[in-house]
Amino acid sequence: MKKFKFYCPTKIVFGEGSVVQLRNLITGKYKRILLHYGGGSIKKSGLYHEIIGILKELECEVYELSGVEPNPKLSLVYEGVKLAKEKDIELILAVGGGSVIDSAKAIGIGARYNGDVWDFYTGKSQVKETIPVGVVLTLPATGSEASMGSVITKEDGPDKLAVNDDIIRPEFAIMDPLLTLTLPDKQTFAGVTDILSHIFERYFTHTSNVDLTDHLCEATMKTVIKNAYILKKDPKDIAARAEIMLSGTIAHNGILGMGREDDWSSHSIAHELSAFYGTTHGRSLGIIFPAWMKYVYKENINRFVQFATNVFEVSVVNKTLEEVALEGINSLITFLKDIGVPTSLSEEGLPTDNFDLMAEKAVNDGSLGEFKKFTKEDVVKIYDLAK
Ligand code: NZQ
Ligand code: ZN
Repeated sequence: MKKFKFYCPTKIVFGEGSVVQLRNLITGKYKRILLHYGGGSIKKSGLYHEIIGILKELECEVYELSGVEPNPKLSLVYEGVKLAKEKDIELILAVGGGSVIDSAKAIGIGARYNGDVWDFYTGKSQVKETIPVGVVLTLPATGSEASMGSVITKEDGPDKLAVNDDIIRPEFAIMDPLLTLTLPDKQTFAGVTDILSHIFERYFTHTSNVDLTDHLCEATMKTVIKNAYILKKDPKDIAARAEIMLSGTIAHNGILGMGREDDWSSHSIAHELSAFYGTTHGRSLGIIFPAWMKYVYKENINRFVQFATNVFEVSVVNKTLEEVALEGINSLITFLKDIGVPTSLSEEGLPTDNFDLMAEKAVNDGSLGEFKKFTKEDVVKIYDLAK
């Protein structure tokens, strides 16, 4: 196990009907609030009115910035930064999925900085301060409700880049599985794929003596897979929705990566699909992860055997290690197909003519990944395997 520091102060308020607790989280602490949300799902579901009702009752000054798009854009972040500075905002309340939360985090750090907020994403500047961010989560997927990350797309690159810092972890996250009932299947299962991918990025490691986090990873993966199948049959199963919602937070708040070297190359490679073609984040990972696995499994075949046996219960009887490892990868592909997530570029109708440029952007500073260090040529081969 490696040395590590872990700090995750986000207060989680979990369970059916938990939105009313927003009252206690705000009372006596925040008056000037920026309500940040997306394209209207929260108005359709009635959540917007519930939240506005609570904020009015508390006599908060409420400013609104809506219109966050999936793969959130820098231009809206700039609008938010301007508004937050002008109105001296005390809390940014993000109501939605990862895109809304990431945009809120960007506004939070941008409003407490004199330069261009994009500096944090390019690594030109380090985050020192933020306006607190509170979350009402409507889509379990990214883990952004408690994570140290924010991912923003600069339209004129296109560049999709992340900033990671403990300072931007949200102050609180309200997580009511009932709020996810309105999700279309496409988003539910893209979310499931994203959650699994956050575990893969940590699970596939060369770090030894990490029994506890290995088993926590395996338990979380099995929980997600089991409950995804339940939701495929019955999207209204609230118990399954609750399991997946909690798994989303656990998968990406850092607990599963304690003491391990994590990878993150698949996320960078997949982000280019979103930057270039607007592909939904979770679906881009369904396309890239199987290709990544096929490309790297020989780097540490025992780890892939462990994945196959402990997560998908692949039998080892009369098989070579390689056969078991490949059966594990194929079991993942079968699972993704079963839940309607694409596992190749062609299934998603994506072009194959930008591999060079996308690989160059993914590699960015010369190399990528830890499980296997990638050059641009490796990344092109992964896109090629994902055709
Ligand atoms: O905009 P609205 O109308 O709200 O609709 C959204 C959006 O169209 C809809 N939606 C959300 N909750 C709903 C709902 N529709 C019906 N009922 C509900 N309850 O779902 C659509 C997608 O929302 P979005 O927020 O884009 O999805 P997701 O949560 O998957 O977020 C994806 C973004 O997060 C980033 C991704 O790269 C991507 O930009 N990530 C952030 C991370 C982090 N901050 O730690 C880590 C992740 O790896 C990821 O990179
Ligand atoms: Zn992700």
